[in-house]
Amino acid sequence: MSRRVPRRGGGEANVALIGYAFMGKAHSNAYRQVNPFFAPTLRPRMKVICGRTPSAVRAAAREYGWDEAATDWQEVVARKDIDIVDVSTPGDSHMEIAIAAARAGKAVFCEKPLANTVRDAERMLAAVEKAGVVHMICHNYRRAPAVMLARQLIAEGQLGTIRHYRGTYLQDWIVDPAFPRVWRLVKSSAGSGSLGDILSHTMDLSRYLVGEPVEVNGLLKTFITERPLPDDPAKKGAVDVDDAALSLVRYDNGAVGYLEGTRFATGRKNYNRFEINGAKGSIVWDLEQLNELQLYVEEGPNSGFRTISVTDAKHPYVGAWWPSGHIIGYEHSFTHTVYDFLRAIGEQKLPSPSFEDGYKNQRVLDAIERSAQDGKWVKIG
Ligand SMILES: NC(=O)c1ccc[n+]([C@@H]2O[C@H](COP(=O)([O-])OP(=O)(O)OC[C@H]3O[C@@H](n4cnc5c(N)ncnc54)[C@H](O)[C@@H]3O)[C@@H](O)[C@H]2O)c1
Repeated sequence: MSRRVPRRGGGEANVALIGYAFMGKAHSNAYRQVNPFFAPTLRPRMKVICGRTPSAVRAAAREYGWDEAATDWQEVVARKDIDIVDVSTPGDSHMEIAIAAARAGKAVFCEKPLANTVRDAERMLAAVEKAGVVHMICHNYRRAPAVMLARQLIAEGQLGTIRHYRGTYLQDWIVDPAFPRVWRLVKSSAGSGSLGDILSHTMDLSRYLVGEPVEVNGLLKTFITERPLPDDPAKKGAVDVDDAALSLVRYDNGAVGYLEGTRFATGRKNYNRFEINGAKGSIVWDLEQLNELQLYVEEGPNSGFRTISVTDAKHPYVGAWWPSGHIIGYEHSFTHTVYDFLRAIGEQKLPSPSFEDGYKNQRVLDAIERSAQDGKWVKIG
């Protein structure tokens, strides 16, 4: 299916970014870096950044390099001179912004998890499909060169039949009970806790590398049920999302998975790791050692894990950056994702992961939640 393509002169697409904090900064950096390093046919112009607090959004526009600052996303999304809308706000506003953008004919780039509920995710998918616009969800870890190499090795059959996916995403930023009840700890704004925030990435990686989940068993746990309110620390508010999310998974191809996402792994900062075991070999990747892939293949008596430095110009995206071996980092995964989004717009194709991936992932997360409530295995659709 061909998709609507921005038709601005000079191969430029005007971007509107909604949200200017953590992801706002990460995405701004990606739009800034993609032109000089990847020279995309369709170049993003950083037209307008939008948030709710005028002084803060003006400062962000200055610091990150946007032409304009705005405070009303509805106005921004309706502008005729905007081609791409980037949704980098908390989950409770993804649906409204993405649907409005699709209806206005914009290509839509949205942060994960796609929405706070399966129903909202389904509506978002329907809206972008109906409008015929290009859409992508920002599961940026798919774009780490070592993860892409892992996918290639699996596709080539080097690991043989895949049996196990073991994915952990461990952080510790809310171990302290005095840490405030920020939006990520409130269901109405975040949808869920570790489940949607970090286990969503781990699940997406398993869908990318292993197969489609068909049945799950979930366990959710909230360790600290009340926290100081950010604006009034003397008062406490309820935490109604999970602090830790665990799941057993059956995949469509017979593989089995164990996934764990927690913000209570004391000492772990952003330990996003997977280990995949096949009949002939295994691979291990860990975000904190982003440029390395550990590979084990059965090679006789001296076989053992070896570390591949995924920093050669022949590896995905690496040649666009620095000479071989000059390593890249976290932020580069966003530039790669944005580059593929721009390419897809230019070629009128759907990039991967699309909103359909976001929707499918959301269905699995929802099944984990239901399983955790009922204490039973839950089949996916
Ligand atoms: N891909 C990743 O690895 C990754 C990492 C972190 C966060 N995220 C996702 O990115 C999204 C944003 O998270 P974050 O960490 O940047 O949060 P954040 O709290 O740092 O920033 C949220 C931003 O959204 C703005 N905002 C909130 N409601 C708004 C509204 N109604 N209109 C305009 N602006 C609004 C806030 O002012 C702020 O600028 C979430 O969906 C989150 O899950 C993804």
